[in-house]
Amino acid sequence: MSAPIIRPYQSADRAELHRIAADTAFFGAPIETYMEDRRLFLDVFYAYYTDTEPQRAWVADAGDGLAGFLTGCIDTVQQHRFARAQAFALVPRVLRGYYQVGPLARRYLLALLSAGLRGEFNSIDLNTYPAHLHINVDANWRGHGLGRRLIATYLDQLRDLGIAGVHLETTDQNVAACHLYEQLGFELIAQRRTRVWAHRLDQPVEMRAYGLKLVN
Ligand SMILES: CC(C)(COP(=O)(O)OP(=O)(O)OC[C@H]1O[C@@H](n2cnc3c(N)ncnc32)[C@H](O)[C@@H]1OP(=O)(O)O)[C@@H](O)C(=O)NCCC(=O)NCCS
Repeated sequence: MSAPIIRPYQSADRAELHRIAADTAFFGAPIETYMEDRRLFLDVFYAYYTDTEPQRAWVADAGDGLAGFLTGCIDTVQQHRFARAQAFALVPRVLRGYYQVGPLARRYLLALLSAGLRGEFNSIDLNTYPAHLHINVDANWRGHGLGRRLIATYLDQLRDLGIAGVHLETTDQNVAACHLYEQLGFELIAQRRTRVWAHRLDQPVEMRAYGLKLVN
């Protein structure tokens, strides 16, 4: 088994990148733990990265398929605007029954709204850390150094573009991820206890934001 290569994302990778994103969305496990229809998650959340800002996405190509990916964004304010507009744009599809929205999705949506009202989401200084990233490696490929190589590649790209800083959000339950970010020099810039996943996990979860300044 030769080491996967890290290369820029291409549109032909879309289905597989989305598969890995959905297969790893629940603390590294499949999203179906908290949502019946993965297409809703992918259309609301990942379409931005593969369709609007694909030039910031990177994949680990194992030859016979993808082993992992990193998706990025250099202007988080713009991505937030897109995500809000996209959520509204998808309402007609939801009402037409295109997506399967069952008790799991309804419960999760309610948990998200309640957490927002309780102020459980971290606020991040987007002037200092305007860019962000998401990274996921297929369960069969974890621990082979791909996460480290994907992030190093993206950081080089951001430095070339002169971006001031980058952040990401995770939780204390993503132990390998937190270890990796700290090893790469990211600092914990915000942390907050949340009950978003209280209906699916026994232990309390802490939301964490990590940041890395790229220019002094
Ligand atoms: C987090 C993730 C992207 C890391 O990718 P990876 O390719 O497995 O990571 P690497 O092989 O590059 O290892 C990175 C570091 O993490 C360490 N690590 C790996 N698994 C670990 C674990 N279970 N606990 C603690 N450290 C771990 C490695 O030893 C390495 O550190 P080192 O260089 O000091 O030895 C991957 O594990 C993953 O996709 N996890 C599930 C989804 C997820 O958590 N995504 C991030 C959400 S924010």
